[in-house]
Amino acid sequence: MDESGPLLRARELCVAFGGLQVLNRVSVDVPQAGVLGVIGPNGAGKTTLFNTVCGFVRPESGSILFDGKPLRPRPHRLTRLGIARTLQGLGLFPHLSVLENVIAGASHLVRTGAVAAMLASPWAERREHRVRDRAMEVLETLGIAADAHRVCASLPYGIRKRVALGRALISEPRLLMLDEPAAGLSATETTELAGILRGLRERTAVMLVEHHMEFVMNLCDELVVLDFGEVIAHGTPGATRADPAVQRAYLGETVGVADA
Ligand SMILES: Nc1ncnc2c1ncn2[C@@H]1O[C@H](COP(=O)(O)OP(=O)(O)O)[C@@H](O)[C@H]1O
Ligand SMILES: [Mg+2]
Repeated sequence: MDESGPLLRARELCVAFGGLQVLNRVSVDVPQAGVLGVIGPNGAGKTTLFNTVCGFVRPESGSILFDGKPLRPRPHRLTRLGIARTLQGLGLFPHLSVLENVIAGASHLVRTGAVAAMLASPWAERREHRVRDRAMEVLETLGIAADAHRVCASLPYGIRKRVALGRALISEPRLLMLDEPAAGLSATETTELAGILRGLRERTAVMLVEHHMEFVMNLCDELVVLDFGEVIAHGTPGATRADPAVQRAYLGETVGVADA
């Protein structure tokens, strides 16, 4: 483990779709502990950056180091590397319970299905119990333990968003990546989510991509601002908000920078 450097270091990432340069030499550092927010207007390239780090998008050039080692992300291998993510939207199994959805995030720990059932070894059973207990702990952290046995489809959106977060957290990631975690949440739910994420920062580093400035202002330790695929500012939330380039980028947006 490289304690001195950042946990994730992306350098000079370039991504183009067709003729469109969507990321142009984008560099970000996620510190070992703390929350990095990547903000910017719609279409700035935030999701593309997120997808590049997760391995959904292959950059044309640039490098990513995780823990000081080159990261060649593959979406299905992220959890094992210590990275978990939630996507824009939910991606839950609507007809499974809250608990089952969270356990699904631990698929690298539980071998369910025919083989496990046939063997039915006490060892496999013990491990499943552990995973279940761990899933319940995660639900407690998120304040939704009471909903553990309810079917996801029957629950309000705000709760389902927490289930999606729980599914990422059960793998005990060193880096948690969130794409617009506050999208679709009420003001109260957004404040509660910020509280939950603040509580996690001792255990896991967070990189979150977000359109809304207010949400990230009080939550993030550092911000990177993207506009048209380029980093136009980075630093503490206070300094970033005051940056004229950032204010210009957000001009005409419904999210006011001055009154955030
Ligand atoms: N798969 C794709 N093919 C072509 N263009 C894309 C693709 N994904 C995103 N884009 C374009 O890249 C730009 C950045 O998109 P995105 O990363 O989704 O921005 P953000 O998340 O900041 O709103 C937009 O102009 C978008 O239309
Ligand atoms: Mg996006």
